[in-house]
Amino acid sequence: MSAIEMLDVLKTYSGRRVVDAISVSVERSERVVLLGPSGCGKTTVLRLMAGLEVPDSGAINIDDNEVAVGGRNLIAPERRHIGMVFQDLALWPHMTVFQHLEFALRYDKLNQFPDKPSRILEVLEMVRMADRAHAKPGELSGGQQQRVALARALVTNPTIVLMDEPLSSLDHELNLHLRGEILRLHAALGFTLVYVTHSREEAADIGTRVIAMQNGKVHAHLPARSRTV
Ligand SMILES: Nc1ncnc2c1ncn2[C@@H]1O[C@H](COP(=O)(O)OP(=O)(O)OP(=O)(O)O)[C@@H](O)[C@H]1O
Ligand SMILES: [Mg+2]
Repeated sequence: MSAIEMLDVLKTYSGRRVVDAISVSVERSERVVLLGPSGCGKTTVLRLMAGLEVPDSGAINIDDNEVAVGGRNLIAPERRHIGMVFQDLALWPHMTVFQHLEFALRYDKLNQFPDKPSRILEVLEMVRMADRAHAKPGELSGGQQQRVALARALVTNPTIVLMDEPLSSLDHELNLHLRGEILRLHAALGFTLVYVTHSREEAADIGTRVIAMQNGKVHAHLPARSRTV
């Protein structure tokens, strides 16, 4: 069964084909990387999967249920069981780490975690940030902020996690380290991962499959050399 299926999905902005009739299928627990140059449509593909954009035409299925068709989202973002790490992280300066996760848990429509504080601490342990639960983003390093964004994406126990260039702003050493952490979390939690990057090396390291995009189209399927954890 496919975790995510995009069938002939078209998205235009002012008549420009930003996502140009893309068909992509992602299997459960797979790690698929979308690789491509700036402006090729990677973020837009993730936003379509998440339900933050509506396709002009085509269809999107999640777990074999149709969630969007041309012109219409059928299932709202908070009902898609998707966690997302945004390209710019989207952390709020006035909120603590703990409050960021608390906010995300409000959208847990399954109400999986009646004891929210202990769930939040559990996830902060996973990303090794429990000791900074009461810090605000301005008091954290870049790598720590990335971990908070990661924790917020994972706290609702999503079946699908979308990561939009989550490590691109970090130095090489920290980038390598956090790649390992993402692979470790994936192995432990078994979510389906769609990961966006413009780095070939990062793509080959993270992906069990790499899809190269260009000008809103799938350009090639590249071999991945996936490390094991
Ligand atoms: N809301 C919008 N309105 C108009 N144009 C948009 C909008 N969002 C994206 N675009 C345009 O769509 C194209 C694809 O954008 P997108 O953000 O998906 O690219 P990307 O591959 O993620 O790029 P980057 O690697 O720089 O993040 C770009 O040309 C962008 O300017
Ligand atoms: Mg982008």
